[in-house]
Amino acid sequence: MTKKKKITAEFCFSKLLLKWHVQCNARQMPWKGEKDPYKIWLSEIILQQTRVEQGLRYYNSFISTFPDVHKLAKAPEEKVLKLWEGLGYYSRCRNLLVSARFISKELKGTFPANYETIKALKGVGPYTAAAIASFAYNLPYAVVDGNVFRVLSRIFGISIPVDTTHGKKYFASLAGELIDKKKPGLYNQAIMDFGAVVCKPVSPLCEKCFFKQYCVAFGQGKTNNLPVKSKSVVIRKRWFYYIVFKMGDQFAIRQRAEKDVWQGLYEFPMIETVNEITPAEIIQQTVMKGWLRRGRKKLPYKISKFTQQLSHQFITGYFLEIDVKKKQKNDWKWITKAAKNELAFPAMLNRYFDTYDSL
Ligand code: ADE
Repeated sequence: MTKKKKITAEFCFSKLLLKWHVQCNARQMPWKGEKDPYKIWLSEIILQQTRVEQGLRYYNSFISTFPDVHKLAKAPEEKVLKLWEGLGYYSRCRNLLVSARFISKELKGTFPANYETIKALKGVGPYTAAAIASFAYNLPYAVVDGNVFRVLSRIFGISIPVDTTHGKKYFASLAGELIDKKKPGLYNQAIMDFGAVVCKPVSPLCEKCFFKQYCVAFGQGKTNNLPVKSKSVVIRKRWFYYIVFKMGDQFAIRQRAEKDVWQGLYEFPMIETVNEITPAEIIQQTVMKGWLRRGRKKLPYKISKFTQQLSHQFITGYFLEIDVKKKQKNDWKWITKAAKNELAFPAMLNRYFDTYDSL
């Protein structure tokens, strides 16, 4: 008998989990018990890489602005990005719109109703497809993510690294065995909540835990060592030098087109470097790009610094304010501070806007 089978035979994981869910789980969320696949899909896309507390406000404003998929499909991308502003991982938002238009037009508004067709939607991976399939259609697909790795690795004492192909397969197969086939939606919601409120990454509530007597990690004092990861995340450092060209009460912005962070959002004209450089060097590069006339010696009259930590990147943004007398002939937009409220900007730029009211 394998270790996995031996352990699962000792107690029924899913029964105990559902018992916890019914008796102890006090987490209230507007999408709980929801059956409309559009609303479930929207909530799951918002909750990818986002804490429930943060996602809640966005979910409510999306549902009230776009109560059905056709309304979302008809919206211009700029409006949808503006509503998404501050939530990060903006490709989620662009994919949401692509899928909404596909469902509205090609599927005449009927949401796909099986796991494979749900997973074929842009922006929907195995986790989100399992969540939607189980919540909306009661299909037995188990969600597997960081929360699930943590709960299962601790309770069953599994030290296979979760970031390896073998580890991913192992946990996916175990999750598929454990899911309650009659109540898959309830089970998935229960494991998500259990991982978030009891079996937390830091300071888990082991003393009060329903699984305390069965949990291998707790029994062996290994809770803080599980789950195991083979690699640590490498954080890429980037420097963004924003040139804030100001003319009267207007300033120049452009839309980020690159396949990179913040695609589709607005920003000031910017020069990226792989190291920190001096303002004089930046001005030189600005001249080389033709953004300032040659021979301009004047340095920016104000420089401010903001930073933003993303999951795999640490971005330092310098904002160099420069007065100019005429507009460059290019595709930049010149706007006032009031007009900026119609457009979506990265959080770091909004922090800059908040601090400086000279713009
Ligand atoms: N994370 C992703 N989906 C979730 C959900 N439905 N409930 C709680 N946390 C989640």
